[in-house]
Amino acid sequence: MMWPLLALSFPLSVFGVQSQLPLHQTDAALSQEDFTKSFSPSSNFNLREGRGIFSPVDLVELPRAQVGIPNPSGDLLLIQVTTYSVEERRNRNAVVVAPIDVAAESLEIALASDGEAFWLDSRTIAYVAKEESKKGTNKALYAIPFRVDVNAGTIRTSLESAVWVGDFPTASPTNFRFTGRSDYLVFSDEVYEDGDIMKVAENDEAWEERPHSAYVFDDTYARHWDTWIGPKKNALFSVKLTQNKARQWILGNKYVNLLNGTGHSSPVEPYGGVDHFDVSPTHVIYTTRDPTLPAALHTKQDVYIVDLQGKNRKQLTAGKHATTQNPIISYLGDKAAWIELEEDGHEVDHANIVVYDLKTSNRYTLTQGWDRSAKEIAFSRDGKTMYLTAEDYARVKLFAMPIPDDSERRHALHGIPAVLTQSGSTHGIHALQNGRLLFTHSSFTSPNDVFVLRNLDKIDFTASYSEDELDIDQLTRFTDQEFDDKGLEAGEEFWFEGAEHKLVHGWIFTPPGFVRGEEKRWPALLLIHGGPEGVWADTWSNRWNPTVFAHQGYVVVALNPTGSTSFGQDFVNAIKTDWSGKPIIDLQRGWKHVLEEFPEIDTERTVAAGASYGGYALNWIQGHPELGFNFKALACHDGLFDVSFSAYATDQSFFFNYEFGGNPWEKKTKEILKRNNPIEFVDKWSTPELVIHNGRDYRAVEAEGMAVFNALQQRKIPSRLVVFPDENHWVLKHANSLKWHYEIFRWFDEFVGERNA
Ligand SMILES: *[C@@H]1O[C@H](CO)[C@@H](O)[C@H](O)[C@H]1NC(C)=O
Repeated sequence: MMWPLLALSFPLSVFGVQSQLPLHQTDAALSQEDFTKSFSPSSNFNLREGRGIFSPVDLVELPRAQVGIPNPSGDLLLIQVTTYSVEERRNRNAVVVAPIDVAAESLEIALASDGEAFWLDSRTIAYVAKEESKKGTNKALYAIPFRVDVNAGTIRTSLESAVWVGDFPTASPTNFRFTGRSDYLVFSDEVYEDGDIMKVAENDEAWEERPHSAYVFDDTYARHWDTWIGPKKNALFSVKLTQNKARQWILGNKYVNLLNGTGHSSPVEPYGGVDHFDVSPTHVIYTTRDPTLPAALHTKQDVYIVDLQGKNRKQLTAGKHATTQNPIISYLGDKAAWIELEEDGHEVDHANIVVYDLKTSNRYTLTQGWDRSAKEIAFSRDGKTMYLTAEDYARVKLFAMPIPDDSERRHALHGIPAVLTQSGSTHGIHALQNGRLLFTHSSFTSPNDVFVLRNLDKIDFTASYSEDELDIDQLTRFTDQEFDDKGLEAGEEFWFEGAEHKLVHGWIFTPPGFVRGEEKRWPALLLIHGGPEGVWADTWSNRWNPTVFAHQGYVVVALNPTGSTSFGQDFVNAIKTDWSGKPIIDLQRGWKHVLEEFPEIDTERTVAAGASYGGYALNWIQGHPELGFNFKALACHDGLFDVSFSAYATDQSFFFNYEFGGNPWEKKTKEILKRNNPIEFVDKWSTPELVIHNGRDYRAVEAEGMAVFNALQQRKIPSRLVVFPDENHWVLKHANSLKWHYEIFRWFDEFVGERNA
């Protein structure tokens, strides 16, 4: 089957955004009586569900697939899938084995525990799961063999055939990499200062049994993302994993800490995983923060290579770059590559691909002249082509570019990759034998599924080629059944003229039953993304899924204002020191544009929601009724309120220092913070606001949400505070997600629901 590749659609016209819209200001704060009255909740509010509606329950119960991982021979893939049941309040875990190039139906192996799967060989899966014993909790490695019966067209296994291979010394090994091309398994674990994985249990006990509960710090990070920094750090380990003569798998018991004595820590917390290191038959390549720099003030990460015994370490990076990501070694072991951001202290900087020739030690950059930033990279098997993904016009596309020989590398600087997928979002790329590439893909209308591109060796990426020449097959269909009667629509994109006459991008999603040109008027919802260097992209989301919002009966508008990624680095950088300037003008103009274009929207029933910077934008709009948004209610998730305080209170100081142009105590920076600070305009607030803030949010700290709520309450503005003490900047737990959706829609319904029509 050919996979449809959608052409990128540019705007056909750009509409003027004149003031044909009602721009009256919202009423002043309500009286105490009105406040109380307006607060008697519609006690019988229910979320919309059923046929034709993709509800929050459907969202949390949808199978969630990770990424497809090919086996060594490239004929099968494995992918882990979890499915939550609201009724049972638990996840079901499964490993799915699906054919890439064998004639057989996929096999789903249901597993009782939540573990990690990887390939031992082309017909054996390793599964690592927690295990309780008299000694305590640790993780154990199991081998699950299966066979492909081509005659019957099946893949078979029985869980009775799963065999225990060995125990790990701790309960926390993770991020396994095993190629079968060496006798070593590489993984990460958290260890104490002694670096000794065998002493973790003993050290844990001493730490937990300390007579007090204090954490003490002399430098940053004291806490990061959602965790107080304790005495343990991530390290990489190698351990033997071999087969004996009887072909039984044997896990060794000598663990080598590959980072011992270096001060390095990899994967880099809090987001790093298997993408922070790679293995060859002889070496491990990894990225680590520069341990000599204060962590909260810098983003510099360096790439190192070390052999599997932890010897002969070599630094491959040089200079004052920011983070380095996705270090990889080519299949033949002759080249390394990684993604490198340009400027230390910046987090969403232009990313280059750096190639390092391991024989000559020459280093060169592949995409310096290209105004997009690589997200993921993979060498072709022969090491002559680089495959990469990058955000481009609110998608994450797959690209390819030739890797020049060392001698011709001057040309590489200005190379522009050739695009291979146009729609949706591609990630989890794996180059296979015979010109094939496995990838995982999602979009607004589909969560992760796995695809294969088969004929890359027949395409000349330096010449022009047509999309029809690409042979793409879809290998899994995890949600076809669930989506059968849901009527998911892809959303429509549009462009409008934003601040400084720049073209700005947005999406619109209409509710089920919406018909253009009909009399019926619909409530509308503006979604504002966080980051602020983020993007509403054509990708599946479990947290801010525009379809879920639309299916509760709203026209949903998701704009990508100044600061958004995927439209070039200038557009990203233009938000610096201007949080309340260009992006807010973009939102204002985009919103007016939509109201002009869609007379079906009831302009008296509009609301807005956003998280993080999105919450900041809402708190800014609260204080600026003259902007004319005229929203009847707001929902602010983990939003910023007092950016002067945020700059000191956040875990990553470098972020505010970058965004506001300096240290928060400097005169110039103080002025910029003040000028852009929502807290300065509380005297103008009047719009009902739901405040959601999470207890483990160390990025935009809980106190910000508390302060917003106190401001609203003191001004007698209808408001409600919802706190998830156990969630971070995001709401991750399924039941919490359901409650989150319920509170948001209940809130909006109160102000712009049917009874307000
Ligand atoms: C780390 O290196 C030190 C110094 O070479 C050595 O004494 C120690 O045993 C090593 N620890 C581990 C866990 O490898």
